[in-house]
Amino acid sequence: MALFPFLCYLFFIAAYHAKADDALCDNNIGNYTSNSTYDNNLKTLLSSLSSHTEINYGFYNFSYGEEPNKAYVIGVCRGDIEPNQCRTNLNNSIGYLREQCPNQKEAIVWGGDFTLWYSNRSIFGLLETSPTLYLYLQRNTSYVDQYMQAVANLMRNLTAKAALGDSRRKYEADSVFETTSFETIYGYVLCMPDLSSQQCTDCLNAAISEIPNCCNGKMGGNVLKPSCRLRYDPYRFFNSTIVLDSPPSTNNTSSGQSKTGTVIAVVVPVVTVVLVLILICIYLRLRKRKQFSKANNGAYEDGDEDEDEITIVESLQFNFDTIRVATSDFSDSNKLGQGGFGVVYRGKLPNGQMIAVKRLSKDSDQGDVEFKNEVLLVAKLQHRNLVRLLGFSLEGREKLLIYEYVTNKSLDYFIFNPARRAQLNWEKRYDIIKCIVRGLIYLHEDSRLRIIHRDLKASNILLDDGMNPKISDFGLARLFVIDQTQGNTSKIVGT
Ligand SMILES: *[C@@H]1O[C@H](CO)[C@@H](O)[C@H](O)[C@H]1NC(C)=O
Ligand SMILES: *[C@@H]1O[C@H](CO)[C@@H](O)[C@H](O)[C@H]1NC(C)=O
Ligand SMILES: *[C@@H]1O[C@H](CO)[C@@H](O)[C@H](O)[C@H]1NC(C)=O
Ligand SMILES: *[C@@H]1O[C@H](CO)[C@@H](O)[C@H](O)[C@H]1NC(C)=O
Ligand SMILES: *[C@@H]1O[C@H](CO)[C@@H](O)[C@H](O)[C@H]1NC(C)=O
Repeated sequence: MALFPFLCYLFFIAAYHAKADDALCDNNIGNYTSNSTYDNNLKTLLSSLSSHTEINYGFYNFSYGEEPNKAYVIGVCRGDIEPNQCRTNLNNSIGYLREQCPNQKEAIVWGGDFTLWYSNRSIFGLLETSPTLYLYLQRNTSYVDQYMQAVANLMRNLTAKAALGDSRRKYEADSVFETTSFETIYGYVLCMPDLSSQQCTDCLNAAISEIPNCCNGKMGGNVLKPSCRLRYDPYRFFNSTIVLDSPPSTNNTSSGQSKTGTVIAVVVPVVTVVLVLILICIYLRLRKRKQFSKANNGAYEDGDEDEDEITIVESLQFNFDTIRVATSDFSDSNKLGQGGFGVVYRGKLPNGQMIAVKRLSKDSDQGDVEFKNEVLLVAKLQHRNLVRLLGFSLEGREKLLIYEYVTNKSLDYFIFNPARRAQLNWEKRYDIIKCIVRGLIYLHEDSRLRIIHRDLKASNILLDDGMNPKISDFGLARLFVIDQTQGNTSKIVGT
């Protein structure tokens, strides 16, 4: 591990134990004089960093000037940060860095979602595992062993994947559900992408082995090193990773040639993939046909389809105990509301996914087979303005429907309350109305089935984070045997 004496390091994540804008500068060695060649090279280098708009993968490695006054810089962002945001974050931190660590020949800043590191020596492709900065969340877990074990496993899995990243990105983020503490732990790992796989693995393994020193029993923590860093927390703090389009071109020739190079690089894999897929399809079809004709003398003309449907039904079926655990045994504290067909509970699946579970009132006469068939039909209805049915669960006379969880409650919660009503301006209301209509058109005209909702009302319009509406409870009439002549039908045929 190389010594790193001329270091100045800072960090800012307000939520953390460290104060916002915490600066720790080591000022003992390695100052440069103002207006020296190095100073000017560094200034030029740093100020040009955000001009590299051609880079779309969040890694900036540049140098400027001649030895011995050459300045080197590396800036890297988490894989979920848009290139524009990344450049802005890096650029914004430069002023802060120079103010906190004036005249330091080498300095590093760990931001919440980026690392910026400059030096007067070449730092490209260099593995530096010290110094290390630890940060942790104040909250403690009551299940230290299980929680920390889950964190370590998550980090090891992420490391294995991140190390395989190419020279543009070595970053991986995911979550894991820890069953004893009932927490979903979110985490990411990141290496400087110009490291080799082995260097990345070594750096992250070192960081993982330090988690117990840093953050034992803490529900969240950061281990920050120059070449790599990791973080875990009991809440989601990253977005989905931005997909990088094509693999990096290996030879950078003149622009004309590199254009053809790109076209070939894209077209060849696409053609290959399509060909391979077609071959696989043909092969599977032939094989299936063969199996069917062997067993049934070819009697099943559309056997494929039936088999597919059965597989789908099975993948839609959730284990009853899983759902019982997910909703803490249908506890009152998880109750979201009471609908026309039963009570709705909030739940959390072992993989951390939030769900809404509708426990159907037990007087449905429908048999299991019909019920499964109807669930299959309704689950096929997918539209962004419909609450998605994820599956079902059966046990004895218990029937459960499992839906995606929509965060912002229902429309009635907003429009019938004077304070909350104010959050909805007319523009937003108009948007909501348009989206509801889109959902209805889909149900009435564009879906495979024609579904008439029969109970559309504000409490059946759920709103997501972005206040986008999703219609709920559609297709439920199909899941119940409803006698049209019965008096209580009016209960579900609403507004
Ligand atoms: C470097 O500069 C800082 C102030 O910017 C000063 O406190 C420190 O003593 C200097 N170190 C050396 C070795 O000159
Ligand atoms: C920096 O140095 C150059 C020449 O070496 C000089 O012309 C300039 O005035 C100096 N600037 C400052 C701010 O000292
Ligand atoms: C970078 O930051 C500087 C000052 O903080 C600002 O003047 C400049 O416009 C920024 N550059 C970009 C591309 O945002
Ligand atoms: C967490 O535990 C530490 C000691 O292990 C204690 O000092 C700290 O106050 C605890 N934090 C909270 C938020 O309870
Ligand atoms: C800068 O990074 C890119 C992408 O990782 C890499 O291909 C290139 O060789 C690096 N440049 C230097 C000078 O290390």
